[in-house]
Amino acid sequence: MNRKNIVAGNWKMNKDYQGGMELISEAVNMIRDERNTDTIAIFATPFIHLSSVSQLIKEEPGIYTAAQNCHQEESGAYTGEISAAMIRSVGASYVIIGHSERRNYFHEDHELLRKKVQQALKHDLIPIFCIGETLEERNAGSHFEVITKQLNESLCHLSPDEFSKIVLAYEPVWAIGTGLTASPEQAQEIHAFIRKEITARFGDLIAAQTSILYGGSCNPQNAASLFSQPDIDGGLIGGASLQSRDFTNIVTAFNPIRK
Ligand code: PGA
Repeated sequence: MNRKNIVAGNWKMNKDYQGGMELISEAVNMIRDERNTDTIAIFATPFIHLSSVSQLIKEEPGIYTAAQNCHQEESGAYTGEISAAMIRSVGASYVIIGHSERRNYFHEDHELLRKKVQQALKHDLIPIFCIGETLEERNAGSHFEVITKQLNESLCHLSPDEFSKIVLAYEPVWAIGTGLTASPEQAQEIHAFIRKEITARFGDLIAAQTSILYGGSCNPQNAASLFSQPDIDGGLIGGASLQSRDFTNIVTAFNPIRK
């Protein structure tokens, strides 16, 4: 099993430029000193930080930057938007696509997300594609169905070669920013289900190599128990990624874990 362990910090709309640069310098120094595995650390910063942060981590092995979104078109008259090509051109390697906040507040639907994934891949950015059910969907027992639909409608048109580049993040919407975390067993159940769905569409090898991250109130206290689960390959971290100590402790939660 040679899939990558990944811990990605999603800063969302937090930190001004100076605050962001302070956070990144502290976090990179700590991660360099304390990480003893090949766990990948990713910083998904606001667009305005992306160029400087990418420069700063350029020579750091296993540390990368991500955008939190990209536009679905190549270029043109889309005032205020940022293209995948622009993101790649400042040195970022990843882009978060389909975060529930984008689906909810910006009405991003399956069709739009499918185009964004295509743009990202075209410009050599690795999509971190987010899926997950709302509380109502979980209470109604439809969470497996919701996840299958999200996978089918935005990713299943990809060729096996394209799909093999994707990182998935399972983020139950009810756990994001709420302090409610899925239990390791609940998260494992869904991660195993997602891997089974990938196997059905793209085969065993690609399924075994796809990193599936957990997101939703992941913190230094619960990271190790989540990451020890066989199908949980890391985390997408919101709130706790804004503190260098907390984020580093989540990255280093992988240090003692042998899978
Ligand atoms: P949270 O956010 O860690 O603050 O719950 C996770 C996410 O939205 O990616």
